[in-house]
Amino acid sequence: METIKIAIAKGRLAKHSIGLLEEIGIDCRILKEDSRKLVFHLSSHQLEVILLKAVDVPTYVEHGVVDMGIVGKDVLMEQEKPLYEVMDLKFGGCRFSIAGRLGDGLGKKHLRVATKYPNVARKHFASKGQSVEIIRQEGSVELAPIMGLSDIILDIVETGKTLKENGLVILEDVAHLSARLVLNKVSYKTKKKEISTIIEAMGEKVN
Ligand code: PRP
Repeated sequence: METIKIAIAKGRLAKHSIGLLEEIGIDCRILKEDSRKLVFHLSSHQLEVILLKAVDVPTYVEHGVVDMGIVGKDVLMEQEKPLYEVMDLKFGGCRFSIAGRLGDGLGKKHLRVATKYPNVARKHFASKGQSVEIIRQEGSVELAPIMGLSDIILDIVETGKTLKENGLVILEDVAHLSARLVLNKVSYKTKKKEISTIIEAMGEKVN
């Protein structure tokens, strides 16, 4: 049996991702210990788990440094890397929405859009023929319309709490998002047996 390497996005998807590995029979106790470790050898299962920032997961999978990864659809839509997206894991459900201040709309001729997802925003507004200026942000995007940096934002909305507490409202929903299982294209051929076993086991738990 070959060792399968899997990258897991740290942050909001990590707990569910580890939970899914446990559901398919993998002992993940060392992953839950309070440590700063990033690489975990689960030798009894021929598995290596690495914890990465979500935005870096597709890069590791694309380069074949890991065979598979669990990452949000938001990151996949933004990066459009050549990976196999094989399964909607159904957790981490949220959406890409456009939001702005109450009373403001999308009617302006030229909109300034603050976002952590410039490619998604560019594509979305291009498909509507709307002229926009994209203002890239790294976080706390909700601040931009409040402070006058942008007219609107395109961001992830999960509970809606951040928007509400900052006086913003949803103007349009763009896409439903959730965690996805992605594969390196070469690994899928060279380690097909091991990878298929994992996919099948996950599939049974997810559906
Ligand atoms: C995300 C997103 C929103 C918030 C939405 O930010 O960018 O700000 O979560 O969640 P809610 O609808 O449940 O309030 P994140 O927490 O990842 O932090 P960031 O703003 O630093 O990127």
